[in-house]
Amino acid sequence: MNKYFFVFLLCLLVSGCDQVTRHQVLTTIFEGVPSLPPPEELCSDYHEQEMKKYLDEKAGRELAAKKDTTLAAISHHKPYVEKKCKDCHDFESKVGLVRPKLELCVMCHTNFIKGSFVHGPVEVGDCSACHLPHSSEYSSLLEMDKNRLCDKCHTEKRLAANMHKQVMAKGMNCVDCHDPHFGDAMYFLK
Ligand code: HEC
Ligand code: HEC
Ligand code: HEC
Ligand code: HEC
Ligand code: HEC
Repeated sequence: MNKYFFVFLLCLLVSGCDQVTRHQVLTTIFEGVPSLPPPEELCSDYHEQEMKKYLDEKAGRELAAKKDTTLAAISHHKPYVEKKCKDCHDFESKVGLVRPKLELCVMCHTNFIKGSFVHGPVEVGDCSACHLPHSSEYSSLLEMDKNRLCDKCHTEKRLAANMHKQVMAKGMNCVDCHDPHFGDAMYFLK
């Protein structure tokens, strides 16, 4: 067998072993392998390595478990996560923002409006009426649960009150039928 190939195989074989076995295998085949450190040191090194591996795996498992529950339900704004604070903030100015609040969001969310019917707060650039700027425990950076959000402003009596009562009783959401921003149909119906 080719000598180098043999050494390669050997390295593969022993790379998974602990220090002691690796040393034993190597010394029986090669000369000049440095002698082992005193046993106490060797054991604590080995223990430390194994402990680190174990803790890393544990941390990984815990993070994965967390992702399944809390993290999945949380939304984060990209520029906030990327710490581009100064894209929005001028901490030296009085308001603390680079633009007045109603002009801030559309600075990046350009050409946002696409339908011929536009929702009141969207029309005036008041994205913050429904969204938080940094992160949220609800999807899409929403300030509150989608089901409660609309009721914050729409306390007026529905013209189509009976129909709404019926569909809401069936467990539907407002955004199942209405786009929250705009649409080509009246009332931004989807
Ligand atoms: C997309 C724009 C945007 C980005 C990016 C952003 N912020 Fe904000 N931040 C806002 C807005 C809007 C407010 C609310 C201001 C208000 O209501 O007067 C705010 C509020 C704040 C406040 C006031 C307290 C609070 O939490 O309401 C602090 C402090 C703050 N931001 C820090 C930061 C830091 C630090 C970063 C970067 C890691 C950051 N922001 C990134 C838009 C942004
Ligand atoms: C500096 C640029 C910038 C500004 C200013 C900005 N955004 Fe964003 N926003 C982004 C980027 C980038 C994304 C991610 C888009 C993507 O992933 O396709 C995003 C995504 C979002 C999303 C979708 C989040 C999700 O989880 O689906 C919402 C909602 C949002 N922004 C609201 C706002 C609001 C409200 C403001 C004003 C307070 C604002 N944005 C200001 C850059 C900006
Ligand atoms: C009346 C409340 C309301 C206002 C005002 C509002 N949004 Fe939203 N937005 C929502 C809701 C609700 C969703 C989630 C829709 C869903 O899950 O079906 C959403 C989702 C989004 C998303 C995620 C992707 C998408 O299009 O569904 C972005 C981006 C976004 N909004 C940007 C904005 C920007 C920019 C403004 C301001 C110009 C704005 N929103 C104003 C309620 C609002
Ligand atoms: C921040 C307050 C606010 C929130 C939150 C809000 N709206 Fe509105 N909505 C308005 C305003 C203001 C108008 C314009 C009223 C007018 O023109 O008479 C409007 C108009 C509408 C209209 C058109 C009504 C008409 O007679 O033309 C519909 C449909 C609507 N909203 C649905 C929703 C839905 C669905 C949600 C939740 C995703 C929602 N709104 C959340 C403020 C809000
Ligand atoms: C099953 C679909 C559906 C759901 C869910 C729904 N709507 Fe509507 N909504 C409609 C239709 C269809 C119309 C038009 C009724 C008409 O033309 O008589 C309408 C009309 C409206 C209007 C304007 C006219 C009126 O009746 O006052 C508002 C405002 C509105 N809806 C708000 C909401 C809100 C807020 C929710 C959640 C609480 C909601 N809708 C849930 C289908 C729906």
